[in-house]
Amino acid sequence: MDFSIKPLDAKSTIGGIKTGCIAVAVFEDKKLSSAAQALDRKGEISAALKSGDITGKAGSSLLLRGLSDGAAERVLLVGLGKQDAVSEKDFNAAAQAVVRVFTTLGSNEAVVALPFDAVAGRDSAWAIRSAILSAREAAYRFDSLKSKKDPAPSGVRKIAFAVPSAAVSSAKEAVTQAVAVANGIDLTKDLGNFPANVCTPTYLANTAKKMAKEFKLEVEVLDRKQLQALKMGSFLSVTNGSVEPPKFIVLKHNGGKAKDAPVVLVGKGITFDSGGISLKPGAAMDEMKYDMGGAASVLGTMRAIAELKLKLNVIVVIPTCENMPSGSATKPGDIVTSMSGQTIEILNTDAEGRLVLCDALTYVERFKPAAVVDVATLTGACIVALGHHNSGLFTRNDDAHDALADELLKAGKVAGDTAWRLPIEDSYQEQLKSNFADMANIGGPAAGSVTAACFLERYTKKYTWAHLDIAGTAWKSGAAKGSTGRPVPLLTTFLINRAQAGK
Ligand code: BES
Ligand code: MN
Ligand code: ZN
Repeated sequence: MDFSIKPLDAKSTIGGIKTGCIAVAVFEDKKLSSAAQALDRKGEISAALKSGDITGKAGSSLLLRGLSDGAAERVLLVGLGKQDAVSEKDFNAAAQAVVRVFTTLGSNEAVVALPFDAVAGRDSAWAIRSAILSAREAAYRFDSLKSKKDPAPSGVRKIAFAVPSAAVSSAKEAVTQAVAVANGIDLTKDLGNFPANVCTPTYLANTAKKMAKEFKLEVEVLDRKQLQALKMGSFLSVTNGSVEPPKFIVLKHNGGKAKDAPVVLVGKGITFDSGGISLKPGAAMDEMKYDMGGAASVLGTMRAIAELKLKLNVIVVIPTCENMPSGSATKPGDIVTSMSGQTIEILNTDAEGRLVLCDALTYVERFKPAAVVDVATLTGACIVALGHHNSGLFTRNDDAHDALADELLKAGKVAGDTAWRLPIEDSYQEQLKSNFADMANIGGPAAGSVTAACFLERYTKKYTWAHLDIAGTAWKSGAAKGSTGRPVPLLTTFLINRAQAGK
């Protein structure tokens, strides 16, 4: 798919645009947007509204052919709701309707001339980014493992956004950003959707190496021996039952000044989580191939910011392995020593995410990070708490951490990839008490996502840190089963905002 900007001025007007289809907005109460008015000199659009064929309700649409006004072959009327209060939801419904109709057209190219600046509280760049992400979401296919491919996306392949000439440069930047984010999302989706016999720890490591070549990133992949030398006893305990070798991926984008402290993203990379000896029940166990969603999302985010050549130092760190049962697997009750020196009684081998993350969180101290954000499909309890709408966000409660939490929450809101903050407090920490080690790896059934975050918190004392639990947001189940690409939009927006603040 190809996206571009079409500048409008006194010379190049809406009516003069030669294209297969031009999409313009109409509002409720039979009101026309200014672009629709410009095409309505003969009253044909007004007549269509009057006829009741389109209501103006957000997401409604009507395709008109053979209008006597304007140079476009077709005019697509799309409802945008109430004229004086276009919500983000209304705009997205309209954009999705446009995308849907575009896929059915016998035309290769089209122009979108919606009032991008009409969305309450958002600018045109926001609207253009959202529209591009909708189009790319609809165009995504995962059929590389099918011998008979899914029907390829058809219809319009080239979309131009018509904007007033004053808005052209910000609109172009919006296109560049949205395409980079969409490319990152697609990578994240592909990695998630590949089954665990394809997307192994080695496959993730090779993906990072390929990205490093393509985007001139620095990459290092540590193997079992090196992890042993680093004394990552907690991470390694999770790999005991698996024949797939563990990998520890470090990928660096040096876009900032050499002396600038990096932002570090740590992604949980369990390429299959059977639960280990604390074996999971069989139903839907296939979905545990998505337990590397954190790793996939930090790689997707890295792809997006590398394509954008973001002026920021960013380091992605991924501890990746399988969690499998076998005669050599870690047993409930086993006690391991983490890289930090803290000992852990593994009361449940299915609480493995925190065991791989804690050593990664200790490892990243060496980078003296400006901030560390870990991303993990960490707890089923997070789905119980927040459902599939919000990722869970956890930080400590001092000013620096409140500020980081707000940055992430705000980035999520703008990007339509939201998170919701949950607590970390000493009272929950007490649930992790062990009779035999410094801590247990589970805190009982109550507040499972909070105690998981509390566990991680114990390994992050040396820097500013946030944790995103994406158990409910990284993939969809059922008929729509598939990776969502979340939280790539949130993370990329967060980093873009950081790079801009540093200017
Ligand atoms: N990967 C799972 C969390 C998960 C479960 C994500 C279901 C999405 C859907 C994680 O490793 C896990 O198994 N967590 C346990 C923790 C428990 C043993 C304390 C859980 O959530 O049940
Ligand atoms: Mn598990
Ligand atoms: Zn897991």
